[in-house]
Amino acid sequence: MLTTRPRGTSDILPGEVEKWQYLEQVIYRLCREYGYSEIRTPIFEHTELFERGVGETTDIVQKEMYTFLDRGGRSITLRPEGTAAVVRAYLENKLYAGLQPVKLYYTGPMFRYDRPQAGRYRQFTQFGVEVLGSHDPALDAEVITMAMDFYGRLGLKNLNLLINSVGCPRCRPVLREKLQDFFRARVDRLCSHCRGRLERNPLRILDCKEERCREAGKDAPTSLDYLCPDCEAHFQAVLKQLEKLGVAFTVNRSLVRGLDYYTNTAFEITVQGIGAQNSIGGGGRYNGLVKECGGPDIPGIGFALGLERVLLTMEQQGIVIPRPPKLDVFLAAADEAARDRALVLVQRLRQEGLAVDMDYLGRSLKSQMKYAGKLGVGLVVILGSDELERGVVTLRNMSAGSQREIPLDRLAGEVRQHGLKHVSGEGKYGN
Ligand code: HAM
Repeated sequence: MLTTRPRGTSDILPGEVEKWQYLEQVIYRLCREYGYSEIRTPIFEHTELFERGVGETTDIVQKEMYTFLDRGGRSITLRPEGTAAVVRAYLENKLYAGLQPVKLYYTGPMFRYDRPQAGRYRQFTQFGVEVLGSHDPALDAEVITMAMDFYGRLGLKNLNLLINSVGCPRCRPVLREKLQDFFRARVDRLCSHCRGRLERNPLRILDCKEERCREAGKDAPTSLDYLCPDCEAHFQAVLKQLEKLGVAFTVNRSLVRGLDYYTNTAFEITVQGIGAQNSIGGGGRYNGLVKECGGPDIPGIGFALGLERVLLTMEQQGIVIPRPPKLDVFLAAADEAARDRALVLVQRLRQEGLAVDMDYLGRSLKSQMKYAGKLGVGLVVILGSDELERGVVTLRNMSAGSQREIPLDRLAGEVRQHGLKHVSGEGKYGN
């Protein structure tokens, strides 16, 4: 146990972590360009927040939450998603009293206790956005476009954007009744959870993961059949905006999403080739959630994208993530006296903004050069005490195999010059 991590979690090691840093940079830039500010909320919240926000009859709340009593006897839950927490923070910090709409984004770990498999983890990472304070269909289109833009900037292809409208509290009762009639006739084909959902929340039966319930739900009545005129108009306006923006979509009448807070627009992005867990992102409107959490009647919309699944897709589609060079220069000491001065010089170069490292294992000069080669460093400074007396060092270009002496006081400038030439075209993030 001491050397085994919990199931469904992962260590992100050097070599892999650069991919995450790349995603984070793309996210940072995307959000700035769309006018979103970052929000960071706690990893854990009071359990009631998710029970109320996500919904008591959802799979997430019924089966998947990491919930425990803390030492003060309070029920605490590791966040299974970000929306409820952002809404809580919006209310607690009275963001509704400031400029509207409030456009927020977040990245971070979420926790769901589910059977781990390819693309499904117990700790996973979401990039999400939430906008509070506007019901404009143009905003629905912006949020959806932003998600698609993110995938596009990463170079992902062959994505399917599925979109639906799940209606509002005005049209919901009609659908609810139709669904109850439909499933009452098929009750013996449902799992025990769904039998319980039949009276309390029949819509949830439609996203149960059990095969038998999926089978029973085929041809069930859909929300699009029972939208009120306002919801219908809103949905059509969103689709029109997407068309104008050139964002391809498929209306999917049976898309309900697994969380209770959705109203109106619901969408999901799927991709083939990464296995059964093919949803790489999803979102929608939640016009009733702020009120449900005890706040004013303020609409909201957002999405969350699963970054592990995004990386899996990139790998599967052969997209290579550019890696920045690790070090600008390695400093190798040719003798003891030079070794004694190495750290001070390394430190001086670092103060000049260069990425520099040296040997700490007492290696010979030859092994230091080999070590620098294995690190993939393009430039090595060879420090010898005789040269230092003369105020010079040797600069070795590892790929060209050439070397020359330069004055010590020109070292930083030379390294930077080499870096500029070397980096153009490779080792840079995105564009
Ligand atoms: P969700 O559909 O539950 O929505 O999750 C969003 C995305 O998180 C999924 O499409 C998937 O990519 C990823 N994901 C979910 N569970 C796992 C898992 N166990 N392992 C790996 N990835 C996973 C939400 O969470 C909503 N809060 C989205 C939202 C934001 N709606 C409005 N605003």
